[in-house]
Amino acid sequence: MTEPLPPLLRACAGLPGEPGTLSGRVPVWFMRQAGRSLPEYRALRGEGTILDAIANVELACELTLQPVRRYGVDAAILYSDIVVPAAAIGFGVDVAPGTGPVVEHPFRSAADLQRLRPLEADLDTPYVVDTVRALVAELPDEVPLIGFAGAPFTVASYLVEGRPTRTWLRTKALMHGDEALWHQLMDRLADLAIASLRSQIDAGARAVQLFDSWAGALNPQDYARFVLPHSRKVFDAVARPGLPLIHFGVDTGELLGLMASAGATVMGVDWRVPLDEARRRVPDGVALQGNLDPAVCAAPWEAVAAAVRDVLRRNAGHPGHVFNLGHGVLPELDPEVLARVVELVHAEGRADGT
Ligand code: CP3
Repeated sequence: MTEPLPPLLRACAGLPGEPGTLSGRVPVWFMRQAGRSLPEYRALRGEGTILDAIANVELACELTLQPVRRYGVDAAILYSDIVVPAAAIGFGVDVAPGTGPVVEHPFRSAADLQRLRPLEADLDTPYVVDTVRALVAELPDEVPLIGFAGAPFTVASYLVEGRPTRTWLRTKALMHGDEALWHQLMDRLADLAIASLRSQIDAGARAVQLFDSWAGALNPQDYARFVLPHSRKVFDAVARPGLPLIHFGVDTGELLGLMASAGATVMGVDWRVPLDEARRRVPDGVALQGNLDPAVCAAPWEAVAAAVRDVLRRNAGHPGHVFNLGHGVLPELDPEVLARVVELVHAEGRADGT
């Protein structure tokens, strides 16, 4: 007898499952499930930059596993960060606690392209490969490990701005002001994402997510011209039969169809677009991931439960649904509430297609 697909992989493939069995479960995991909302994370993480924690294989494994144990989620996501490849080739990027990625010398001109050499994952990020291998050995078959990378646009926005931004002013000035240089930058960042994702897949990651968190800052015409070809290159380069390719960004309601056309097999949806509407915006056969508003999880339980049920109701038993938040877990959230969300999705979610 062949092993049934784990719920995550079944849902990503859009296959129906039998109600009341593991195979019919609506899988659930949370973006940023590892992190400061967990007391055990705060106890173990220690001071210092997250890049050091990521480079510590034993620690990175444990931090990846903490939310799997605590929440009973249907996937693990590698404890890492989207700036790891750029940092590993020496671009000079760090992650400041409470702020996010900061760059000492931001990308300003063609001369800066030389600071973006290709990533040799085995040599530059051996700890990522080792962490993936160790996790795959440890995790049960029904809890696949998701690998990930930052999409070229979102990583570019950090390298160009030098820190998190609300306006993307320098990024947009570069893409519109020097289109040739923009595409060269994006091409190098696509290569970084490809090398990193391939190394994670080769080491045993069973699904990958491309985080284009800030793509929603763009209108559809700029997204199509300045971003889509590069994200498509990433998906084309890493696609393998049976490997879910998840694509996610915030505030991307107007971009869902375009982002799916980059080659995603699963589209992440933030909380602003109801799931039934999101389904109309992506081609048939593309699964959806989302989309509970993370901030609603701070409300009393009955309100949280109503919001969870609304997401499930809008999905209406469609087999291609991976339950998630519309963006990452907020540090203020109570882990008990998230554990109850998982229980509720497992108890009431349907993936039978009726
Ligand atoms: O649990 C997981 O999801 C796994 C690991 C993960 C981290 N970063 C660890 C992390 C993942 C998938 C990411 C991706 C990431 N990093 C994204 C895309 C996802 C998204 O939120 O849209 C982005 C934009 C980044 C860049 C980044 N790194 C930001 C904006 C921050 C927050 C700064 C802060 O301290 O609030 C980080 C830091 C970071 N990356 C933390 C974690 C757990 C915060 C806590 C810490 O430093 O220990």
